Amino acid sequence: MQNIEFYQDAFVSHLDAFTKHREPENLYTPANYILKLGGKRLRPVLTLMSAEIFNCDYKEALDAALSIEVFHNFSLVHDDIMDDAPLRRGKETVHEKWDLNTGILSGDAMLILAYQLFENYPAAIFQDLAKLFSKTALEVCEGQQYDIDFETRDDVTIPEYLKMIEYKTAVLVGAAMKMGAIVANANEEDQNNIYEFGKNLGVAFQLQDDYLDAFGDPKTFGKQVGGDIIENKKTYLYLKALEYTDDSTELEYLFSISAKDNTDKIATVKQIFEESGSANATKEAIELYTNKAFEVLSNMTISEDKKQLLRAFGESLMNRNV
Ligand code: IPE
Ligand code: IPE
Ligand code: MG
Ligand code: MG
Ligand code: MG
Repeated sequence: MQNIEFYQDAFVSHLDAFTKHREPENLYTPANYILKLGGKRLRPVLTLMSAEIFNCDYKEALDAALSIEVFHNFSLVHDDIMDDAPLRRGKETVHEKWDLNTGILSGDAMLILAYQLFENYPAAIFQDLAKLFSKTALEVCEGQQYDIDFETRDDVTIPEYLKMIEYKTAVLVGAAMKMGAIVANANEEDQNNIYEFGKNLGVAFQLQDDYLDAFGDPKTFGKQVGGDIIENKKTYLYLKALEYTDDSTELEYLFSISAKDNTDKIATVKQIFEESGSANATKEAIELYTNKAFEVLSNMTISEDKKQLLRAFGESLMNRNV
């Protein structure tokens, strides 16, 4: 096993070779733009690590890792359209830099490129990867639809919210790890355990994403701070604030309008999140789901140093600010 930076570097070299100039320019340039904008490379690193955890050279898993990252970036291009987001990784989003149609079609092409990468594997592995991928990608669509539906609903529950983030985010983190295990020919039990580990980590990851959307530092966060508040996203922060405040009329009102100038709305809502205790409750939930992921590890027969590396990765995600 190597450290996380090693897998990141190995992945980025593989990505560089993939993002060649292709025509038509207006289809592939935006795809390469988003892929090269950076990002944490969390999912592909997990795929590579997972392959090595199950005793396979990470190089075998590079195309599966790339597939996951290309799919993730496709989902971001379309997500930014759906969320009307101006910024991604500190730069203009694809639909802002180009236009809506470019975002739609470049995203579509990326989804297909992601599938195509599985063709580089032998038939049995191809089948397992494609099967997992189709299931996961459909769940991501379902999660994204719930996320949008919830914007205009005023009766969203915490269990509904948790299901929504499991689908839109966590299953892809689980799948990233399971793909590493599939490439490594790990047994079914190991495959399922590593999926569960990744899924719980993914729930914690999305809770943290929601927290940073409100409380991140605009200088380093790379996305529009307060974007979820502007879009009336029914996040854990919001749902817990409803639960904890005696009179939630103001909060409910603010989340039923689309304000022209959002500065006051964002400031007021953030204050409610802090004073109600929902900001703290969100931090606690992040820890809870990270610990759930660690509990799955204790059922696994992999060596202690491998578990330690995965725990360190989980801890570092909890403490991130981008
Ligand atoms: C953003 O994912 C979308 C979510 C599921 C929260 P990341 O936070 O992994 O984005 P990058 O790839 O590092 O930019
Ligand atoms: C994104 O959720 C989930 C997917 C892209 C599938 P968000 O909408 O919270 O992600 P960000 O905050 O824009 O990265
Ligand atoms: Mg978004
Ligand atoms: Mg979204
Ligand atoms: Mg977000």
